[in-house]
Amino acid sequence: MIRICLLVFTLSFSVACQPEKDKPNDNHQTQFQEPYRSQFHFTPPSGWMNDPNGMVYYEGEYHLFYQHYPDSTVWGPMHWGHAASKDLMHWEHLPIALFPDSLGYIFSGSAVVDWKNTSGLGSKTNPPLVAIFTFHDAAEAEKGRNDFQTQGIAYSLDKGRTWKMYDGNPVLHNPGIADFRDPKVSWHESSKQWIMSLAVKDHIEFYSSPDFKKWNKLSEFGQRVGAHGGVWECPDLFPLKDQNGNTKWILFVSINPGGPQGGSATQYFVGNFDGQKFTSQDTITRWIDYGPDNYAGVTWSDIPQSDGRRLFLGWMSNWQYGQVVPTEKWRSAMTLPREISLLRNVDVYELKFSPAREVKNLEGTPKNFNEDATLDNPLCKISFKVDSSQTFLLTIYNEKNEKVMMSLNAGVLSFDRRQSGLTSFNKDFPAVHKVNMHDINIETLDVYVDLASIEVFVNGGGRVLTEIVFPSVPYNKIRLEQGDPQFAISPLSSVWK
Ligand code: FRU
Repeated sequence: MIRICLLVFTLSFSVACQPEKDKPNDNHQTQFQEPYRSQFHFTPPSGWMNDPNGMVYYEGEYHLFYQHYPDSTVWGPMHWGHAASKDLMHWEHLPIALFPDSLGYIFSGSAVVDWKNTSGLGSKTNPPLVAIFTFHDAAEAEKGRNDFQTQGIAYSLDKGRTWKMYDGNPVLHNPGIADFRDPKVSWHESSKQWIMSLAVKDHIEFYSSPDFKKWNKLSEFGQRVGAHGGVWECPDLFPLKDQNGNTKWILFVSINPGGPQGGSATQYFVGNFDGQKFTSQDTITRWIDYGPDNYAGVTWSDIPQSDGRRLFLGWMSNWQYGQVVPTEKWRSAMTLPREISLLRNVDVYELKFSPAREVKNLEGTPKNFNEDATLDNPLCKISFKVDSSQTFLLTIYNEKNEKVMMSLNAGVLSFDRRQSGLTSFNKDFPAVHKVNMHDINIETLDVYVDLASIEVFVNGGGRVLTEIVFPSVPYNKIRLEQGDPQFAISPLSSVWK
């Protein structure tokens, strides 16, 4: 034991003494070159990662916290890992922000700037960043209790660099429901209070608070609405203006399982929120992504009004196989950051998820192709124009003939990853994912290819398919096997070079 302590001490001491750029968590360019390491998507330096948490913008930095188990590449006692970015693409890895304590593991949640210091945890001149999350008491869960998930808060007074647990935790006790988690909080200006959305088994509960410390239950939503193939998790509630400037309220609800391609996925509702109650006007289930690999995604808090965007990030994996994908040092990546807009077509509202404009900064000059292309750079964006009546088959492949096949036929878009490379780690992974697009006019496709993922944006994000893949060598060829759309390929640069 003593020897282990000494070793840990020596290691931490030597890490502390290393020059800044050589620290293991630093964005040094010799790192992040392992097989399957995403080159323009966020990945943790090492260890396990699932949901994005606590996404908040403050003083020129986008903060990203994430469900993290640093000691293994599978899920375990949850911490909040942390990174910050000035442009959503280049991330600085920061020390772990929140550690499990006597109240439990630190499950998913959110963070906001408490501008008016309503919590009293900072001051008006130095407003605190307040994180609110679920404590998961694994020991109590094992004893067979059902009140083991409670909500707690922590705060930072130094731009998120260090965090203190609030002494009065938990701030919301459990009424005796096993699934009671993932608080997402935002300031509701017209009622001048904080509103929390909380996932409770098969519905969302809304709570209000003047100060983060006392919470008052307002209402419930969803027991008989939307998809219920699995437990409800990770809600997000926010207002968004449509193209005519009218405000609607959007509610995201992740479910596991029960997604459109099997396993986990996120649905959304469009409706109204009056400070107490959410009402949805949807009659069909809508998904933020029609591929299998976008889960637990939520939006950033406190994006300045001068920017005005609603920005989203999701966990680019699926609980069906997230823990067995073939990466060795770390597991999982996040999706591309996406900007959300609301489009109204008569009485139907739909969200559009476009790649955030910062992605463009990585793009090189596009080249046009008709049939075949060999890529100098496996990181690329493939764009083409196509209409719903057309048929095409596009193959993205490598020298070993590992391939993904994307096709459009009679208004159905298919993504076939059965021969995409390593697929046998889980029986659900090799599959063809079909999306019926009869209700939209397909005009364009933009396909972002990273070393272990492909994201397809139809009509700039009107529909999205996110897919992870593990080719044993990177794909470097593209062939149009059927159809005649001309396509353009833009190289993308790595954020690590
Ligand atoms: C969603 C989720 C959350 C929970 C977290 C635990 O993926 O199950 O509901 O807070 O992961 O890591």
